[in-house]
Amino acid sequence: MPNFYAILTSIFFSGVLSLNSELPIQYELANNILENYQKGLIPKVKKDSPINVSMSIQLYQIIQVNEPQQFLLLNAWVVERWVDQMLGWDPDEFDNETEIMVRHDDVWLPDTTLYNSLEMDDSASKKLTHVKVTTLGKQRGARIELLYPTIYKISCLLNLRFFPFDMQKCRMTFGSWSFDNSLIDYYPHIFKNGPVGLQNFLENDAWSVLVTHVDRQEKKYSCCPNNYTLLHYDVVIQRKPLYYVLNLIAPTAVITFISIIGFFTSVNPFTNFCNVCVWKLISNPYMSLFLSRYVSCASVVSFFFPLATFGDVDVVMLLG
Ligand SMILES: *[C@@H]1O[C@H](CO)[C@@H](O)[C@H](O)[C@H]1NC(C)=O
Ligand SMILES: *[C@@H]1O[C@H](CO)[C@@H](O)[C@H](O)[C@H]1NC(C)=O
Ligand SMILES: *[C@@H]1O[C@H](CO)[C@@H](O)[C@H](O)[C@H]1NC(C)=O
Repeated sequence: MPNFYAILTSIFFSGVLSLNSELPIQYELANNILENYQKGLIPKVKKDSPINVSMSIQLYQIIQVNEPQQFLLLNAWVVERWVDQMLGWDPDEFDNETEIMVRHDDVWLPDTTLYNSLEMDDSASKKLTHVKVTTLGKQRGARIELLYPTIYKISCLLNLRFFPFDMQKCRMTFGSWSFDNSLIDYYPHIFKNGPVGLQNFLENDAWSVLVTHVDRQEKKYSCCPNNYTLLHYDVVIQRKPLYYVLNLIAPTAVITFISIIGFFTSVNPFTNFCNVCVWKLISNPYMSLFLSRYVSCASVVSFFFPLATFGDVDVVMLLG
């Protein structure tokens, strides 16, 4: 009964075919491109050409500038782009589909690391979700875009000599931790207003961003024969001094002025002088306590602190 079998097989195959064509295109595509893909291996094909990762950073918010502990907390949006030569398909075979979103842990990702981070746990600082895969053709691979929001906690040496009229420069250094630049190379993406995008920046009450720089460096470590590529992003921020001028400097200047006048117009200048000395000794610790919010060690002293201390003496004197 050959006819019967022929009919049976044809029914069977048409069933498979119709089932297959009912699969949504992204399923077919993902099944096809991820079939022999090894996400643990670097998708590099040619020997002498590294994977070029373009790094784009947009600053969203300055969350905290912590002077005593010398760190900066930033919220940033990062996009990393590269070409994965092992992905890629011919759009004609897949309904002209050129783009697919897959989970970030389905494909290989560069191990981009913030070198001066105070946070070691990646999941605590980056929120990775999906990657966008756009084909360049079957043989040419696919462009991968990894977009994620991050909270960067970076160590930064804050110089408070000119507090509250100070400017701080904080550096973020990015690079691959384990791949040298024969395997992964980094290039910064430059926005209209600099290397760090500020289009979506939320204004901060206490700080404004003055300028940003980026510096690409090929660094040789004693461990390894090849260079590593590092991207140094510098963010220069300036303190908005209005709060301190209104609450610290203006009142103390006025009171200092009044007490100097009082000093020369009083009946007995000698007792007045003693008063100043004694009250200064007494009030100094209180002022230090207030300023310790900003200063971590005694060696970092603002030019404006003595003025503030002197003003404070006079407040105590007037009250006394
Ligand atoms: C990466 O960039 C370098 C220099 O621009 C180039 O020689 C190399 O072919 C690029 N690698 C890839 C995979 O495109
Ligand atoms: C794909 O695009 C080509 C050219 O734009 C068109 O001729 C063809 O009909 C499209 N195929 C499908 C399945 O949409
Ligand atoms: C490493 O970089 C330096 C310059 O930054 C260059 O002179 C040197 O040849 C590079 N070494 C390798 C192995 O590429």
